[in-house]
Amino acid sequence: MADWNERYLGEDYAFGTEPNEFVLSVAHHLPRKGKALDLATGEGRNGIFLAQHGLEAEGVDMSEVGLAKAARLAVEKGVSFVTRVADITAMAIPEAHYQVIASVFCHFPEPQRSDLARRIIEGLAPGGYFVGVYYHPEQVMLGTGGPSDPERLGTLREMVDTFEGLEWIVVEHVRREVREGSRHQGMSSLVHLLGRKPQEV
Ligand SMILES: C[S@@+](CC[C@H](N)C(=O)[O-])C[C@H]1O[C@@H](n2cnc3c(N)ncnc32)[C@H](O)[C@@H]1O
Repeated sequence: MADWNERYLGEDYAFGTEPNEFVLSVAHHLPRKGKALDLATGEGRNGIFLAQHGLEAEGVDMSEVGLAKAARLAVEKGVSFVTRVADITAMAIPEAHYQVIASVFCHFPEPQRSDLARRIIEGLAPGGYFVGVYYHPEQVMLGTGGPSDPERLGTLREMVDTFEGLEWIVVEHVRREVREGSRHQGMSSLVHLLGRKPQEV
């Protein structure tokens, strides 16, 4: 596994300080109050954006170096953002707790991927939203960011099936130029998900 602490050393923000383009584009769907969890928040750009949106946001990551930079960015942006060091493949996610859960560019092979998806859905309050951004398997050939192991990547169909039980608002496979910090640059193949947990399950 990549050493994220090492990657986050230095003053610059590896993926920038602005939110991912898809997260930004779907923000108008998201509530402006309640609790939000940004899984694998890294240096915090997406979780902090959710805090700026009005949510009581928390970011979890394995990298304490990334989280220290996230805490600094939150201060610069003038929002409250709680950070926690944890392994998201193992941590407990409280049930029916979050109005929004986001996961941007964090890829796991099976069975961790399905297990995490199940815990995400359980963690959403009824009517809560999941925002997911993933590289598509064809990204391995493009080589402009993301894991080189295709086992970590799912097609649109596979990712939708993984999150079975959500009501879908946006599901798309797009190819676009990504310019997000120094680590994600160039034509990329992406899976975008915006789903909602049904009010009645
Ligand atoms: C490509 S970065 C994306 C960071 C952030 N979501 C963003 O878009 O700016 C992937 C992040 O996943 C984190 N990560 C990888 N595996 C993890 C795990 N099992 N638990 C918690 N964080 C993990 C890494 O530390 C890293 O910060």
